[in-house]
Amino acid sequence: MRKYRVGILGSGVISRTYAADIQAFYSRKLDLAACADIDAVRAEKLAEEFGIRKAYTTDELLADPEIDIVINLTPPGMHVELNSRIIRSGKHLFSEKPFAETVEEAEQVLKLAEEYGVRIGSAPDTFLGSGIQSLRYYLDAGLIGKPFFATANMVRAGHETWHPNPVHFYGKRSGPVYDMGPYYISALIVLLGPLESIASLSASPSPVRHIYRGANAGENFEAGIPTHYTCILKFKSGAVANLNISFDVGKSNLPMLEIYGDRGTLSYPDPNYGGGTPKIFRFEQCLSPIYQDTPEAHAREDRMYELPELFIRQKDYSRGIGVLDLAEAIENGTENRANGKLVLHVTEALQAIVSCADSEHFYKMRTTCERPEPLKPGSAADQV
Ligand SMILES: NC(=O)c1ccc[n+]([C@@H]2O[C@H](COP(=O)([O-])OP(=O)(O)OC[C@H]3O[C@@H](n4cnc5c(N)ncnc54)[C@H](O)[C@@H]3O)[C@@H](O)[C@H]2O)c1
Repeated sequence: MRKYRVGILGSGVISRTYAADIQAFYSRKLDLAACADIDAVRAEKLAEEFGIRKAYTTDELLADPEIDIVINLTPPGMHVELNSRIIRSGKHLFSEKPFAETVEEAEQVLKLAEEYGVRIGSAPDTFLGSGIQSLRYYLDAGLIGKPFFATANMVRAGHETWHPNPVHFYGKRSGPVYDMGPYYISALIVLLGPLESIASLSASPSPVRHIYRGANAGENFEAGIPTHYTCILKFKSGAVANLNISFDVGKSNLPMLEIYGDRGTLSYPDPNYGGGTPKIFRFEQCLSPIYQDTPEAHAREDRMYELPELFIRQKDYSRGIGVLDLAEAIENGTENRANGKLVLHVTEALQAIVSCADSEHFYKMRTTCERPEPLKPGSAADQV
């Protein structure tokens, strides 16, 4: 395939991970040719750090005929407006999450992309990493039988403990649901299929947040949204899940992702990461002490066993594989996996979680999607 020329819009914290990973892992197929920012100094700094040929304003980036795909890495509140501008410039788009705040907004952007004949990809793309793809392989191979229940828990301290600009993660389009929910909800959909209904409740234990890092360290600000959500999800398959998403928990022993089937349990470290070793507990381990009353049998009853990752793990925490997936799909005329239908379904779920917590009612999903095609074990590191 030809090399696709890529431009980054928004040269902040996560642009460094995209730039490093595209250059390290996908440079045979993606050429990181330009970066841009509303702040020229930031774009120049990113270009200098990574040897990117052009540091642009937004208009310059969108006017450059050489750029095929723009990766939108601006703050959440800018996504819909800038995604629309990128599409109108005739370029393919890969957007960071959240793609939009509401289904209506997401539908408008997707319709615009259709009108302009450009393709859409959106984060999260972490489900294309070796960890979740391996988990899916084992699930689909029937290792835990029929999955009927899952728990996903993204419960941790807020972004003010590590991010230099934490305020925009507490606005209406962000907060725990819109910022971290997409990773967990996408992973659950990729593993268990589309959602049927949702319920949720929220809590706001610490509305006043303190900034610990960056230029504004020492200041306080008020969160504009609840910062803890507890949700129940029902899938079309009949499986159910609970999902906790919180910026208020310093430490928890809840599993980040576990799937329970009638023949066992699969456990996974963190859907926000591309790499991660799945573990399994087979139902027979509960039975072994019935037949053999030995210390070994009892020890087996308490243990989960590591399963090998079946794909190449580029890095534990990586970004950019969704851009490769988009470029390959454009080249081959196929559907990319982190695609518009998936992002629309995820957006509806995010919107439903927030609205159900406000109104305390059950929500029936109106959109749906297919589980994206799995990757093939044994593929090259830059082959999706
Ligand atoms: N920081 C992370 O670890 C992380 C991880 C995964 C995803 N994300 C997502 O990536 C996006 C960016 O996050 P970040 O942490 O890099 O934020 P950031 O604040 O560090 O960077 C955002 C950049 O966008 C620029 N920008 C703002 N408005 C703009 C506009 N109108 N036009 C052009 N540029 C503009 C800012 O000047 C800044 O350089 C968010 O959607 C976030 O959810 C962040």
